[in-house]
Amino acid sequence: MSIHFIGAGPGAPDLITVRGRDRIAACPVCLYAGSLIHPAILDYCPPGARVVDTAPLSLEEIVAEMAAAHAAGLDVARLHSGDLSIWSAMGEQLRELDRLGIPYTVTPGVPAFAAAAAALKRELTLPEVAQSLVLTRTSGRASAMPPREKLASFAATGATLALHLSIHVLDDIVAELLPHYGADCPVAVVYRATWPEERIVRGTLDDIAAEVAKAPPERSALILVGPALAAEDFRNSALYSADYQRRFRGRDTRAGS
Ligand SMILES: C[S@@+](CC[C@H](N)C(=O)[O-])C[C@H]1O[C@@H](n2cnc3c(N)ncnc32)[C@H](O)[C@@H]1O
Repeated sequence: MSIHFIGAGPGAPDLITVRGRDRIAACPVCLYAGSLIHPAILDYCPPGARVVDTAPLSLEEIVAEMAAAHAAGLDVARLHSGDLSIWSAMGEQLRELDRLGIPYTVTPGVPAFAAAAAALKRELTLPEVAQSLVLTRTSGRASAMPPREKLASFAATGATLALHLSIHVLDDIVAELLPHYGADCPVAVVYRATWPEERIVRGTLDDIAAEVAKAPPERSALILVGPALAAEDFRNSALYSADYQRRFRGRDTRAGS
């Protein structure tokens, strides 16, 4: 019997992987992480499943749930929003399971930044505009940023930024980014991407704080910053140029998609 960690995606119940959905359906116990999991995802649980919201539980209580299920010979579906590789708190749970000798699997999910980019209908990496995407956050009560992971250091590269867990400090973010990106740099705030209440606020570093202030507050938001959000005069990717086709297609197509 195993604990199956599953990335439940950004919200919409059809944005979970087929593997994730099938794992949930096969587990008589489901532990899910609070308000970022859409309730309809829980409909994939089998009838009679024990379904527990772990938002009010401590790590010890969550691990105790897992250990009790394991001792009873029951598989557990452990759901976190988006993907498990970023800000899921999966790491500390895996460490405890390793200590207890309880086996587990990990199934990836659609991360919120990808859902936000899709809502904007934008590619976040454009030739000669931005070729890197920085997934980051600002310091919170639960976790401080490591000293060298400064927003200004990331901003100095001009890469596209995807700021998580940070909408409440938008003013500070704008102040820190302005010297690097300039006042006319495009910014988009995507609230609750893929949920029925999804909302997009677009602007520039100059006016985004005022635009956001017009709307009711909502903590579940992603802030995307960078010239790739609005660039129109970028060079085409070489991947589909006729010259590239002649020289490389048919020989080895593994390099691109
Ligand atoms: C604890 S982190 C979880 C990130 C998640 N593991 C992922 O892969 O996207 C929560 C933050 O992710 C972002 N987020 C999660 N779901 C979102 C959504 N549907 N729309 C916009 N932002 C979202 C917000 O910045 C939120 O504060």
